[in-house]
Amino acid sequence: MINKQIRLASRPSGWVTVDNFETTEEEVAEPADGQVLVRNIFMSVDPYMRGRMNDVKSYVPPFGIGDVLQASVVGQVVASEFSVYEEGDYVMGMLGWENYSLCDGRQLRKLTPGTEPLSWHLGILGMPGMTAYVGLMKIAEANTGETVFVSAASGAVGSVVGQLAKIHGCRVTGCAGSDDKVASLTEEFGYDAAFNYRASEALHQSIREICPDGINVSFENVGGDIFEAVLWNMHDYGRVALCGMIAHYNDEEPQPGPRGMMLIVGRRLTIRGFIVTDHPDACEEYIAKAVGWIKEGKLKYRETVAEGIENAPGAFIDMLKGKNTGKQIVQLAEA
Ligand SMILES: NC(=O)c1ccc[n+]([C@@H]2O[C@H](COP(=O)([O-])OP(=O)(O)OC[C@H]3O[C@@H](n4cnc5c(N)ncnc54)[C@H](OP(=O)(O)O)[C@@H]3O)[C@@H](O)[C@H]2O)c1
Repeated sequence: MINKQIRLASRPSGWVTVDNFETTEEEVAEPADGQVLVRNIFMSVDPYMRGRMNDVKSYVPPFGIGDVLQASVVGQVVASEFSVYEEGDYVMGMLGWENYSLCDGRQLRKLTPGTEPLSWHLGILGMPGMTAYVGLMKIAEANTGETVFVSAASGAVGSVVGQLAKIHGCRVTGCAGSDDKVASLTEEFGYDAAFNYRASEALHQSIREICPDGINVSFENVGGDIFEAVLWNMHDYGRVALCGMIAHYNDEEPQPGPRGMMLIVGRRLTIRGFIVTDHPDACEEYIAKAVGWIKEGKLKYRETVAEGIENAPGAFIDMLKGKNTGKQIVQLAEA
């Protein structure tokens, strides 16, 4: 069997392009003692991968030039020399951008397929869903009756944040990058109000229109101008869960800002960054609750699916440019 793989060809300077990736092929090897061979079915492309393409120290190590890139993958065991797994088992783990992964069995977690599609373990029942829960409930501690504002609201994390806030009795607002996305927020994901930030002439004014009494909890996914406009609309004692700053991931140089930092003092704001993997207990708590909310129809899920490993770089770039609604995944093989 031939394994098609995507490797890091060069480090991007500014915007990542398909030229930063190369596709290679090699024979699939048999597993040695302790190893498992996995046929990869779905892989995730996530914003944090852009950071791993830079050679900088961070909470995850950078990808090496020439190395197969890594991703969260759901797959099926083809052959196993590790006692926990046997052929046909469904598993997930941090594997490669490739059709087959030969890995240490300890890298894997067994999936017990239920009624949910396998790909959901990369989205609503995976890291993005957990991130939404940790940020909203543990970092910002959103309470019933509060106004929540979410940026990149129709994405994998944002679409879950809004629904969780609704489940917990909040008034839910946000912004996204197209009229169709805004319609999905209010019609599908239960947001009370939202706007298209690309069509806004004054972001702080657009936020004020949908949050006239101020924001109690901001779930910040974007940074840049949007974060600055959020600061001007925060209520006294408001809390910001700083989840990500995707507006800056392709910057060539660190950008100054946001302006208005004195507002943090005057309005007694709490701004706290977090990384989901630091909160394993909350993640488990979320999964147990999410399964119930999905069954009750309170938690809906959308995916944007690209087909084939050769299209993974394009899907990753499209997601960074906002072409996805909900979770961007790549399907590599039939489930
Ligand atoms: N802290 C953690 O542990 C953790 C874990 C997972 C994710 N994150 C962060 O959470 C955020 C969302 O991640 P995700 O996986 O859910 O991705 P996503 O929202 O599904 O996809 C990224 C979205 O960001 C928006 N975007 C891109 N550039 C933008 C810009 N300049 N201004 C405004 N919006 C922009 C685009 O939507 P529009 O069309 O609306 O622009 C795009 O669809 C990212 O910042 C990510 O790094 C953090």
